[in-house]
Amino acid sequence: MPTENQLSTKIDENVPTAARMYDHYLGGKDNYAADRAACEELDKVVPSTRRLALNNRRFLQRAVRVIAEEYGIRQFLDHGSGLPTQDNVHQVAQRVSSDTRVVYVDNDPMVLVHGRALLQQDERTAVIHADMRRTDEILAHPDTKRLIDFSEPVAVLFNSVFHCIPDSDTDGPLAVVERVRSHLAPGSIMLMCQLVSEDPEVREFVTNFMDQATQGHWGRVREQKDVYEWFDGLEILEPGLVEVSTWRPDTEVAPRQLTHEWVEFGGLGLLR
Ligand SMILES: C[S@@+](CC[C@H](N)C(=O)[O-])C[C@H]1O[C@@H](n2cnc3c(N)ncnc32)[C@H](O)[C@@H]1O
Repeated sequence: MPTENQLSTKIDENVPTAARMYDHYLGGKDNYAADRAACEELDKVVPSTRRLALNNRRFLQRAVRVIAEEYGIRQFLDHGSGLPTQDNVHQVAQRVSSDTRVVYVDNDPMVLVHGRALLQQDERTAVIHADMRRTDEILAHPDTKRLIDFSEPVAVLFNSVFHCIPDSDTDGPLAVVERVRSHLAPGSIMLMCQLVSEDPEVREFVTNFMDQATQGHWGRVREQKDVYEWFDGLEILEPGLVEVSTWRPDTEVAPRQLTHEWVEFGGLGLLR
């Protein structure tokens, strides 16, 4: 796993990345023909993916607002933050309280370029170019030290990112979750969700497709039971672990569960 200095800062337009494909699904402009072609191929098997991406982003925004408004948390560490789009984490949280600090972490060089321009808007936000599995490096980074006080509650976000990393006893999702959690004060919240399917054919196809398309920068589509493991020892907040468009929706009348072949599944866990 690369350290910050070893991470490539070169943008290869010909190899799709998760960050740029997601940007395309959200209607962004920070993507290339290869990313759009990969999305088109993916849509042939999982045609509801654009809807899934939009649902996922809205879940993130609702959850950040709830964490700031109802739990009063003023510091966020966002792993795999993605390319800047509308209503990024710091904008949602700072609408609740302008003194909120946000550290974004992503390993995609495109996020570094566009993120530093748009996410790092003031002295309360920073973008770190790092692999989310390198907890020690992220926590020791000068920007994290400057902005996040780990003796106070922190909101740690892993929103739609764990499918990008493979299983491993030392660096798989569970190991990463446990490593980060060991640094958190009571009252901290961990937000985690990832792509899951209960259909083994969908899991296999998408995992292989994305692994090939991204040249190995991918993990796997998992099952709901895998996500439950990460919340062990945390108090799962209402309404529980769910398909994320049904997590505390803003309105009771809007259509929600609109994706079928695969979903983003997860929720929020509070550290007592
Ligand atoms: C689907 S996007 C999710 C973006 C954002 N969290 C959201 O939910 O709107 C996944 C992001 O994780 C990033 N990512 C993937 N693997 C990573 C890794 N090992 N370390 C850091 N970031 C990673 C990708 O570059 C991409 O920006």
